[in-house]
Amino acid sequence: MNFTAEQARVFEPGEIGPLRLRNRILRTGAFEGMTPDGVPSDALVEHHRRMAAGGVALTTVAYCSVAHDGLTFGGQMWARPEIVPQLGRLSGAVHQEGGLCALQLGHAGYFANPEATGVKPLGASAQVCLYTLSRSRQMSLEDIRRLTDDYGRAAGLAREAGFDAVELHLAHGYLLSQFLSPHTNHRKDGYGGSLDNRLRFPLEALARVREAAGPGMAVLAKINLEDGFRGGLELAEAVEVARRLEASGLADALVLSGGFVSKTPFFMLRGELPVTEMVANEKHFTRRVSMRMFARAIVEEYPFEPLFFMPAAMSVRRALKLPLVLVGGMRSLDHLSEARAAGFDFLALGRPLIHDPDFVNRLARGEITASPCEPCNKCIAEMENGGVRCAHPTLGQPRAR
Ligand SMILES: Cc1cc2nc3c(=O)[nH]c(=O)nc-3n(C[C@H](O)[C@H](O)[C@H](O)COP(=O)(O)O)c2cc1C
Repeated sequence: MNFTAEQARVFEPGEIGPLRLRNRILRTGAFEGMTPDGVPSDALVEHHRRMAAGGVALTTVAYCSVAHDGLTFGGQMWARPEIVPQLGRLSGAVHQEGGLCALQLGHAGYFANPEATGVKPLGASAQVCLYTLSRSRQMSLEDIRRLTDDYGRAAGLAREAGFDAVELHLAHGYLLSQFLSPHTNHRKDGYGGSLDNRLRFPLEALARVREAAGPGMAVLAKINLEDGFRGGLELAEAVEVARRLEASGLADALVLSGGFVSKTPFFMLRGELPVTEMVANEKHFTRRVSMRMFARAIVEEYPFEPLFFMPAAMSVRRALKLPLVLVGGMRSLDHLSEARAAGFDFLALGRPLIHDPDFVNRLARGEITASPCEPCNKCIAEMENGGVRCAHPTLGQPRAR
């Protein structure tokens, strides 16, 4: 295939820490819903094998909670020795296809689901969560120490399972993002107030992850460019967060995203609100009723635009030398090469790969120039309906579940 010089830069190899990636395209963390009883299923192994077979350089297994009290769903994976054999099969299957894999490590903090965890949610501060209709308690210093250990332990398990990388979730309003955000962190001790203080726990967790990952693995940190609402983390501070992460020398790359699951869940997605499908898949009666009544009033809808995080991400690009991964709204070879030309080292895709795991190979072979995925976001509802998949597979290749 004859690509222009700019297009060819999408397919050239690149490096993240100790890893050499065969091209610049990553599969971003997009919760698969394939971990019944908290253990990766064969479907999860197959899902990521197909991503690697379809040409992505590195595929990210979404949301592994570092502890049981960080779950947002009943059937969500949490880091413990029982998951290592299946994760090992997954990394083996991905490597067999010439790809690399990362495990996303997170904790839901104040919006952890007490029905799934059996305990009161932990937060940077005590706070009512309208999303789970529960109230968190403020984490003690002992909780912070315990969870710092848990982040490290989880990275150690990923390493044992043969993963190439871990992605530490400091974005989307998860626990470490709750410490960074002025909206959720009202602490009066050394972990709240100034940006230095709000960054303390995220940096401690990152240091522990770095240590456990060792020199052979890459460590990526996913951060918010903005939380997406007044009173949350804004771009100017996010640039400062990125600078300090770079200065710490603890991360090999930053993944740039935005939004806050418990407040602005569609800020990170853009496109349609799949209310009917989400209501249909909600198993909890009260939540189903309240979702049907209030979803459109509570959940803000954001119009989809190509490359929707790129304008904000440029501020980070200008401030940093560290490899940067752009996420959000890349649907075509033109979008991907535009992002490369703007200085982004790697490009992470979600919905186009859920629609068609062969998207990268088909672009590289010149069979297509764009994904037909228009963000109807029905794939979100599918996460809880047997596993993430495109609701319109007929637009492209048929897929296995
Ligand atoms: C079904 C689905 C599940 C998602 N789950 C996660 C997740 O577990 N962790 C995460 O960091 N982002 C998650 N995201 C957000 C994606 O990482 C990404 O930011 C978003 O899909 C925008 O990229 P795209 O336009 O290429 O789809 C999810 C997205 C989708 C569509």
